[in-house]
Amino acid sequence: MDNLDTSVGILDSGVGGLSVLLEIRKKLTHIPIHYIGDSAWCPYGNKSAEQIQARCFAITEQLIEMGARTIVVACNSATIHAVEALRARYPLPFIGMEPAVKPASKLTQSGTIGVLATEASIAGEKFHKLLQTHISPNGLKVITQHCPDFVTLVERGVLNGPEVEDAVKRYAQPTVEAGADTLVLGCTHYPFLRASIQQVVGPNVKLIDTGEAVARQTASIIPLDRGHGEISIHTTGNLACLQHLFPILCPSLTAELAKITI
Ligand code: SIN
Repeated sequence: MDNLDTSVGILDSGVGGLSVLLEIRKKLTHIPIHYIGDSAWCPYGNKSAEQIQARCFAITEQLIEMGARTIVVACNSATIHAVEALRARYPLPFIGMEPAVKPASKLTQSGTIGVLATEASIAGEKFHKLLQTHISPNGLKVITQHCPDFVTLVERGVLNGPEVEDAVKRYAQPTVEAGADTLVLGCTHYPFLRASIQQVVGPNVKLIDTGEAVARQTASIIPLDRGHGEISIHTTGNLACLQHLFPILCPSLTAELAKITI
């Protein structure tokens, strides 16, 4: 029971949140981490706010049962539509994602920012408030683009090659051609495609995400980095797929992989 109060739970619509887990593990090397990827329901990006909330409640209850006492909502769509409801329902700290619009507004030289995110994230009120705070007052321009194939590619473990290049040309390249010099990777799946995106858009375009910032915030509220460092990854989807994907996405980590039905 000793580790219960320092276990971290991470939830995502699938394997994208593993990009956040990798950042958290760099800062918290000892605490046990439980991850649930809702691959059976992935993507969340085309689901309603009500559906996303219902899934987040069910998954959070499983994470609490596993011993998690701090929950990271490592999914932008889930953060935008469910994090406030989660905070209202469970007396635990919830750390959510936020598309890196604020840092992008400081980095851009051209004054145009591209935000790559899911349809659900772009439609969310939280996202519009972010733009009202950091874009409009600074006279900046934002181009939003939802990229459904990016999530599908990462869920299949396809991180480079012609299919990825084609998707990047359809989603990211037009925003750069329209003047964006800074691209926000506003979905936790997208950092796994970072190298391929950079290759297509060129080295002068800055790509930013908030995985590292979320890891910093998580570490700041964990009182002691203690325990035996176990990581358990659960999928509501296909265990054989997770067993195939995990070493591709997280080659530096070892973890116990399991199927969970929620
Ligand atoms: C998705 O499930 O559509 C992507 C998750 C995200 O928004 O980070």
